[in-house]
Amino acid sequence: MNHQDALNNPIFKIVAEAADELGVSTYVIGGFVRDYLLQRGTPKDIDVVAVGSGIELAQKVATKLEGAPQVAVFKNFGTAMIKHEGIELEFVGARKESYQRDSRKPIVEDGTLSDDQNRRDFTINALAISLNSHDYGTLLDPFNGLIDLQNKLIKTPLEPGITYSDDPLRMMRAIRFATQLDFTIELNSLKAIVENKERIKIVSKERIVDELNKILSSSKPSKGLGLLHKTELLPFILPELTALQGIEEKEGQRHKDNFWHTLEVVDNIAETTENLWLRWAALLHDIGKAPTKKFNKKIGWTFHGHEFVGSKMVYKLFKRLRMPLNDKMKYVQKMVMMSSRPQILSEDFVTDSAVRRLVFEAGDHVDDLMTLCEADITTKNAKKQKKYKNNFKIVRQKIQEVEERDHIRNFQPPISGEEIMTIFNLRPSKEIGIIKDAIKEAILEGEIPNEYEAAKDFMLTKGKELGLKSNL
Ligand code: CTP
Repeated sequence: MNHQDALNNPIFKIVAEAADELGVSTYVIGGFVRDYLLQRGTPKDIDVVAVGSGIELAQKVATKLEGAPQVAVFKNFGTAMIKHEGIELEFVGARKESYQRDSRKPIVEDGTLSDDQNRRDFTINALAISLNSHDYGTLLDPFNGLIDLQNKLIKTPLEPGITYSDDPLRMMRAIRFATQLDFTIELNSLKAIVENKERIKIVSKERIVDELNKILSSSKPSKGLGLLHKTELLPFILPELTALQGIEEKEGQRHKDNFWHTLEVVDNIAETTENLWLRWAALLHDIGKAPTKKFNKKIGWTFHGHEFVGSKMVYKLFKRLRMPLNDKMKYVQKMVMMSSRPQILSEDFVTDSAVRRLVFEAGDHVDDLMTLCEADITTKNAKKQKKYKNNFKIVRQKIQEVEERDHIRNFQPPISGEEIMTIFNLRPSKEIGIIKDAIKEAILEGEIPNEYEAAKDFMLTKGKELGLKSNL
């Protein structure tokens, strides 16, 4: 089968020429071939395997490229990389043993193309296209990867236990590819994940999070999250989510299954935003519900304070997974912390001051918060669904009205602390804080508009109450 079309990029002719000069057989392999066959657009990375030294081939290729780009050599892995016109070209020598990306052990055993294909993760990733002059463009498919592509199957080329123990991250990769491509994991390859689940412990957190992020970035993350649960990998990765699973019943009262609910919320939000961190917030918005769950004879199941507890858990979870403890984490914490606010607000008659407070606290993230809350509506009762959605529509409208009038978002006090000090001849003291706070409260409550003159009058009255003398 000839797939010359895949090789339209002129770079392949250059690689072929270099390989010819060195006398090494060379193939393009892995994700590039898979995505070409799936017509998933032009991939940014190209993996090239040489039956010989990948590093030497890379160096030769670089001399033929305009501007002779630098070759990044990773000696221990036996790989080399060139960046060219926005594409990352990765070169590797064919080998008998598997990729050991986390190992410091140098890779020694050279192999044939078929040795190399044997040690790859899935049949659909072991497809290679020849760059050699005698069979340029030929597809080499020893494991019927093409058929698996057609049947939408994720399947390991070897006995799955062997493939996974070579690199246990592959268990997550199987789930990630199944999610991204909407494929099914072949039964044995799936069962072997359950059998080998404990091995995920040896994989670095960074690589795990990379896969999680890819699952979350897909169009239907619940597929991957559900598979992580089914294969029992989830407790090793996100035990906070596993803890949400299950429905308890006491005295005829049941609560919803917060795990499956969460998955629905994540799918909902995936339809409205690409923001990965907002998707994380959706994933974690209810994690505080497991530790706060209580049963009360009068009111049934409660989860009091779950938003606060949940936002604290976000920090621990990010830390454990070595995720960034920066503004992204704070953003997720804030979303979790505020995740019930618009709900409570929309249940009652929506007052301006409640909306002002919401906008004040959420600041620039108020729209994201509304997106999260709308995604949180998972009721199957059509009437309720309509009602909740409509309520949020009203809240959104109010937010807009209040914002146009009062400019609360990114609130800046209309009177500065310095001005208060000057007017009342004060040194830095707690009175300044009291006055500033009173002005802010008056604005949020709607007692005064968010304007300088009104705030100044209010300040003078407040100062008088506190027994302060102004010099105005
Ligand atoms: N590979 C593997 N085992 C791994 C990682 C990678 O066998 N744990 C092989 C696969 O053949 C894969 C190729 O290396 O196709 C390139 O890996 P990578 O760039 O991580 O994945 P892609 O398949 O290119 O897919 P994506 O870019 O979507 O991650």
